[in-house]
Amino acid sequence: MSDYHLKKMYSLIQTPNDLWRLKYEDELAASLGGGRVITYAAGRMAFYSILKTLNLKENDEIILTSFTCSVMVNAIKRIGATIIFSDIDPETLGSSPGEILKLITPQTKVIVAQHSFGCPCEIDKIQELAKRRNIFLIEDCALSFLSKYKGITLGNWGDAAIFSSDHSKPLSTLIGGFVYTNINHLYEKLKVAHESIGDIPQSQQYNIYNQIKFESKYYKPEKYRFFRLYQLFEGIYKKIIKSRNAPTFLINDSVSVPAKDIYYPYPSKFPSFLSYLGLLELGEYIKSIEHRRELLNQLIDVVSIKHRIPNCYANDDNYIIPLRFAFCSDSEKLHNKIAKFIDKEWFWFKKPIEATSEDMEAYGYKLGSCPVSEGVGRIIINIPCIYYKDDGMIKNLKDALITE
Ligand SMILES: Cc1ncc(COP(=O)(O)O)c(C=O)c1O
Repeated sequence: MSDYHLKKMYSLIQTPNDLWRLKYEDELAASLGGGRVITYAAGRMAFYSILKTLNLKENDEIILTSFTCSVMVNAIKRIGATIIFSDIDPETLGSSPGEILKLITPQTKVIVAQHSFGCPCEIDKIQELAKRRNIFLIEDCALSFLSKYKGITLGNWGDAAIFSSDHSKPLSTLIGGFVYTNINHLYEKLKVAHESIGDIPQSQQYNIYNQIKFESKYYKPEKYRFFRLYQLFEGIYKKIIKSRNAPTFLINDSVSVPAKDIYYPYPSKFPSFLSYLGLLELGEYIKSIEHRRELLNQLIDVVSIKHRIPNCYANDDNYIIPLRFAFCSDSEKLHNKIAKFIDKEWFWFKKPIEATSEDMEAYGYKLGSCPVSEGVGRIIINIPCIYYKDDGMIKNLKDALITE
């Protein structure tokens, strides 16, 4: 990132200006379709804010896919509704209409349909079964930005959609997320509630800014081992020496962290300086789409010679902008070879409920309840399709497959 942009971002921490956030929200909305956008400091907060408008009670059920992130479970826990985990469709790696249907009861108030890795799930079928029963449908598009299903951009099928722009997502502002909706009265409700939520403290914003500078160098598949090592030392340092200080950024939302230990308001507003970054990232993302799609085609060509890959990649209804290319292999040898150029920790959904070291049971997940997710998780490989300047990834993958 150029010094000019860094300086501009820095100045927006010192002197925030809401116009950047409004401009970012308008541009996001325009890229997705005719709806409206409201930003938050994280996708989980966008999700929480939608749920909050629905006045759910303890016995009201929310169907969530088991290939989810722990912070989504926590958002529901904060609301106090009941979580029902549904199994994935192995051909899309996202939500399965058949599995959701099995779980619907008179208490079901919300269905969350997740599109994984940029691949659409069968959202038309999920939309139909939700509409017929008057159940509120939220699309989880945290892992899919601007992919389409049957010609319609993901996020436009549900009553509302949530997106994340954290550092591992299609659009990256280190932390961040937003709601997209085509329903005006929902947007108005969210907007009113948004006016009274807090800001990330300025000291935290400086931490985020420094982390962005650091990650632009080191948050890369080939340097991920170093990145994790750094994170480990940073965590120990914070615990021992600066235990009272805030964490560097907003990942601290595990079940064992009580709300009072959170160092930022929940939900919080998306800061101006990140809105400025978001506008830059959005432009870059749009420019990179064809490259990402081309990379996906090359990965498919290489892998499909030796492996069967999920049907979603061959489905003509899908226009996929990949976040990751995912397939399954039970060859331990291949897993080990790929681990030489992509850290295994970089693979997602090796077990249901991602991004936590805590037991799945602590999140209310019963082992064995989603056998497809658990089975796929044991053998899944997912290769990041972020914008590579060279195609080293293809060559490495080819070599791994040839010598398997
Ligand atoms: C599928 C999915 N949904 C939602 C989220 C929440 O996003 P955020 O981290 O911005 O709160 C994540 C986070 O990784 C995710 O993987």
